[in-house]
Amino acid sequence: MTEPRKFPHHLVREIFEQPDALRRTIEPRVSLTEGRVHLDNIRISRDELRSLRRINIVASGTSRHAGMTGQYMMQQLAAVPVDVDYASEFEYRNPMIGHGELSVFITQSGETADTTAAQREARQKGSRTLAITNVEGSTVAREADGFIYTDAGPEISIASTKAFTAQMACLFLFALYLGEIKQNVSQQLAQSYIAELLALPEKTETILSASDQVEQLAELYYRVDDFMFLGRAIHYPIAMDGALKLKEVSYIHAEGYPTGEAKHGPNALIDFRLPLVMIATCDRNDAGSVLRYEKNVSNMQGFKKQGGTVIALATEGDAVIPELADYTIFIPQAPELLSPILEIVPLQLFAYYVAAKRGLDVDRPRNLVKAVTLE
Ligand code: AGP
Repeated sequence: MTEPRKFPHHLVREIFEQPDALRRTIEPRVSLTEGRVHLDNIRISRDELRSLRRINIVASGTSRHAGMTGQYMMQQLAAVPVDVDYASEFEYRNPMIGHGELSVFITQSGETADTTAAQREARQKGSRTLAITNVEGSTVAREADGFIYTDAGPEISIASTKAFTAQMACLFLFALYLGEIKQNVSQQLAQSYIAELLALPEKTETILSASDQVEQLAELYYRVDDFMFLGRAIHYPIAMDGALKLKEVSYIHAEGYPTGEAKHGPNALIDFRLPLVMIATCDRNDAGSVLRYEKNVSNMQGFKKQGGTVIALATEGDAVIPELADYTIFIPQAPELLSPILEIVPLQLFAYYVAAKRGLDVDRPRNLVKAVTLE
């Protein structure tokens, strides 16, 4: 019998637990032969779901980044308009929500005060509520009409990793479930997506098996003071979360920006001192993804002309990006809507190795707590 692998910190153990967390979250809820998603605790009728006018996603920090990817998933698969809010801003913008709408609250802990307060407000305004949480019986789950548990297992480290990938998997499951109810997703399409979902844990293992390459990259860059993370469309929230992970565990200033926004200001910052982490993956079977990829290639050429240093995330088999980038991390091929679940893994590893090389308390960064229970 092989000894279970020992890890020096909770954070890196939790990053490596992601294949199993994804298996637990996905496998019991899908049937490949039927092309169906089974979600037992939604507790909102199919008729009501079919006629939803709008979905509001509300969350904080990393959970909000998951919500941003969920916006793309739901809009594409269920053809319903989706808004995403910061839970901490929700009450201040007088949210115009109500009957005929669904508000989705995403929270690892289920106890984040901003999120539970926003949920109460949404209920009071007449919206249906759905909680996506990692903690059974938590406040957000108890107070919602329905819930989906992420099943990532306890997350100890303050930086959220396995809960994040499990949240994105749950959001995709819900988007597929809704798409089927709204007859927007055919059985054949659902089957092909379910096959891709079931392949994610193994693809995550492939990425983790190359962790030493990410560690070498961290060795090159751990003394740098600023980073910029860039991503387009559904990859933008991954750029945001890559930057958040780096700042919270390594105390390095990092910004996440939509790639196309760089020319509207941040370009002025770009020179050899500011490494750019660019998410430049491509789903060759998706025309929109190919278009975005081509724009990424042209942006990358521009950044190189400006003297920028580029660390790229590219899809396995891509020969163009590695020619342009200073360093390339390969991600297994996946559909555009599922690729974010893979892309974040090397960025989590990067943040971990940089922080560990800086000798920091990676599991308990200064000034942060695991669940922010005060507003
Ligand atoms: C993530 O790495 C952070 N520690 C933080 O942004 C966190 O995601 C946020 O505080 C929300 O927590 P929740 O998911 O428990 O609501």
